[in-house]
Amino acid sequence: MEILHVSAECYPASKAGGLADVVGALPKYQNKLGHTAKVVTPMHRTKFLYDNDFEVVHKGDIKMGDLWFPYTIIKEKTNKLDFDFYMVDINGLLDREKIYGYSDDIERFFAFQIAVVDWISKWKHAPGVIHVHDHHTAFIPFMIQYCYAYQHLKSIRTVFTIHNGQYQGWMPWTKVSYMPAWNSAYWGKLDWNKDLNPMASAIKCAWKVTTVSYSYLEELRYNSKGLEALFEYEKGKCTGILNGIDTAVWDPETDSYLDKNFSLKNYQQGKDENKKILCEKFNLDFDKPLFIFIGRLVHEKAADLLPQVINDSIYHMKGQMNFLLLGSGDYHVERHLENMRSEFVGYYNSQIGYNEKLSHEMYAGGDFLLMPSRVEPCGLNQMYAMRYGTVPIVRNTGGLRDTVIDYGDVGGYGVKFNQASVWDVTYSIHRALDLYKQPKRLHEVRTTMMKLDNSWENSASKYIELYQQIIH
Ligand code: ADP
Ligand code: GLC
Repeated sequence: MEILHVSAECYPASKAGGLADVVGALPKYQNKLGHTAKVVTPMHRTKFLYDNDFEVVHKGDIKMGDLWFPYTIIKEKTNKLDFDFYMVDINGLLDREKIYGYSDDIERFFAFQIAVVDWISKWKHAPGVIHVHDHHTAFIPFMIQYCYAYQHLKSIRTVFTIHNGQYQGWMPWTKVSYMPAWNSAYWGKLDWNKDLNPMASAIKCAWKVTTVSYSYLEELRYNSKGLEALFEYEKGKCTGILNGIDTAVWDPETDSYLDKNFSLKNYQQGKDENKKILCEKFNLDFDKPLFIFIGRLVHEKAADLLPQVINDSIYHMKGQMNFLLLGSGDYHVERHLENMRSEFVGYYNSQIGYNEKLSHEMYAGGDFLLMPSRVEPCGLNQMYAMRYGTVPIVRNTGGLRDTVIDYGDVGGYGVKFNQASVWDVTYSIHRALDLYKQPKRLHEVRTTMMKLDNSWENSASKYIELYQQIIH
């Protein structure tokens, strides 16, 4: 079976979050199962672009409203990612350093999608499945069904995966002028509440819709920023498939970002060595349990709670622990977290920004990982942390609910709480301290987590089974 994944990001070529990790891993595992999975993203000006060789495989022109754009499809030459990796270059629009955050993102991703569909329309053999990820690629199922120029692609099966339903790509109806000539009888397939809504459109037009965990699908039916009724109506085509982790990239034994590698056998010594390096670098106390947070400093991740949680924990639990944070996002949270560094010298430190190497070092050297997320469609951090022997402290939501069992329950290994409140998180830190003080129990917890199999093998075949249901 031939599958083309279309995404805004793909690790290691580009990454803003977990979407990149998934799109960089899933196709690799689909190929291992004997299929041909390929990936196409916009051409971002990242280090990967300059460090690798690409060849031009197609050139074309697209019309978007009144504008004409020449576009170029380039392909990485050596199959370095273990799948064919393509990028779309549109001069001045897609060749930028950041993946998102430009004032013309609507135009950028509209043009990207038109170019991808136009390119596919020139393939000798169309792919069996076009698998689109999140709202940046969510107009494609509509385009191949209702845009006149692409009618011959109509029979290609489309699958839409929702990694994050908080962002739906809403735009005013005036932007519909960018859509290649389309059959306006089907305007309802684009509309949701009088806006153009790419996510709603893909839920209506794709053959199958997936979410990245089972619980998240349930949650979307009750709370999905206005799409609740649509999820209810389309529930027959929706399935939850839990993300996996790329165990070739995320393995403490071989991780090239770590100065000290370790395995299950010598994890205690290995984690200590990594913790020592971190503590020296960030002026923290090796003898205290180290609580880490890695992620986007945004409302969904409940990053706004962190300053108060850190303050209260240090004061109320008499500084028995250390905190180290890595992240970027909301300006006020960033400033708050930075300013606290001088107040809690020796107890707390943070690095504002994005740093792939440091994130690996923190998973390896941390004792506990904080994930108080208000919304967490799947979450990969907790799975990486567990593989590196770091105990996750998570809110009982979405993928966190599906991947972590509280250490108080039979066979459990994490710390779970229900409310995204300062009190619940602080109380969980208290419970984590309790666990830390019981070396035998902590050893059981850590070894149980490190043995868990959260690899992609299982989930990759679930996607294949899903495709098979729609390909006759
Ligand atoms: P989301 O995609 O919602 O941000 P996930 O848990 O699925 O959350 O994935 C986050 C990914 O991004 C993980 O690989 C995590 O290690 C990484 N990450 C997040 N913030 C940073 C950062 N500031 N520096 C390095 N890696 C980060
Ligand atoms: C999104 C979600 C995150 C998920 C990731 C990969 O960014 O916020 O929970 O793990 O996508 O699917």
